[in-house]
Amino acid sequence: MAEQLSIGDLARRTGLSVSAIRFYEARGLLSPIRTRGNQRRFPRADIRRLSFAMIAQQLGLSLAEIEAELRTLPNGRSPTRADWAMISRRIRGRLDRQIRFLEQTRDRLDGCIGCGCLSLDACGLYNAADRAAKAGAGPRYLLGNSPADFEDRA
Ligand code: FES
Repeated sequence: MAEQLSIGDLARRTGLSVSAIRFYEARGLLSPIRTRGNQRRFPRADIRRLSFAMIAQQLGLSLAEIEAELRTLPNGRSPTRADWAMISRRIRGRLDRQIRFLEQTRDRLDGCIGCGCLSLDACGLYNAADRAAKAGAGPRYLLGNSPADFEDRA
């Protein structure tokens, strides 16, 4: 198994486009060596770095968060299990919050998909008089607000 991969091999192995790999390289997150013919050669460990970036994106981490985590990995050697474990510990809280949000969203939408009633009494999405706009832009009831947040408390 080759220890150094061409950019095409790395693209085939990860499923990323060559331009996406160049993007990560340009951000300083990958450090390929150059051959005598000035071709990039990536260490095999970069498959895991890029895989982490792809999975982290799927999990909802921003590019800035992904970059910050990748920058904690050592330059000049393959990351060890301990290096990856540190990242895992740091993002665990973020992932737990994301899981809770997805579960809440699923549960709220379960009742509404295919319903469409927007019942004042029963629907968790009904936004009477657009009161939820007080909390900001976006789908406030899916982002954590509830109608009780906007009840008059006179
Ligand atoms: S649309 Fe009917 S309960 Fe939400």
